[in-house]
Amino acid sequence: MAGVRCIVLVGLMGSGKSAVARRLAECDSRRVLDTDRMVEESAGMSIRDIFSAAGEEHFRLLESEALREALSTTDRVVIATGGGAVMGETNRSCLSSARESGAAWVVWLRTDPDVLARRVSHSTARPLLDADAPAVLRDLHAARSARYAELSDAIIDTSALSLREVASAVLSGIPGPSPKGPHR
Ligand code: S3P
Repeated sequence: MAGVRCIVLVGLMGSGKSAVARRLAECDSRRVLDTDRMVEESAGMSIRDIFSAAGEEHFRLLESEALREALSTTDRVVIATGGGAVMGETNRSCLSSARESGAAWVVWLRTDPDVLARRVSHSTARPLLDADAPAVLRDLHAARSARYAELSDAIIDTSALSLREVASAVLSGIPGPSPKGPHR
């Protein structure tokens, strides 16, 4: 059982954050907090419905609340964030504080955008991919990569890895317990 209190997974849609989080929870005795699911529970509707009823801006507010709540839990957790969570300034500052205090260890699941496009091709859950998903994913990769990189303690390229391999790579990098830090 590895030390840090919150493992936080960031990365684009289709990078495997939710599935890897579930696997890590099994292997490392952690609870999964998935910010997309938290948003859906608090709104009582799907992400697609939130986007169409209230707009992306409203979704981003709910997402910020969910991230803040997830990071403030005192349990051992693995947090799967939505792909756009790193773009909000408030979210970035919450993540940075959690890293600085030793409470969180952030991993970017980096994936080639063409691989992402193949992985999400059968899903209809993501409103941002309604138009030309491969082109959107390439643009988002270009627009967000620097943010993912600056906020991450580790980067795992998942493009050619199985879910099991990604989870093992995450587990093998988790920092150990701190002798004096109350958060680890
Ligand atoms: C989004 C990613 C989605 C979800 C929403 C917006 C994004 O989460 O939060 O559709 O902006 O990249 P996943 O990355 O879990 O698919």
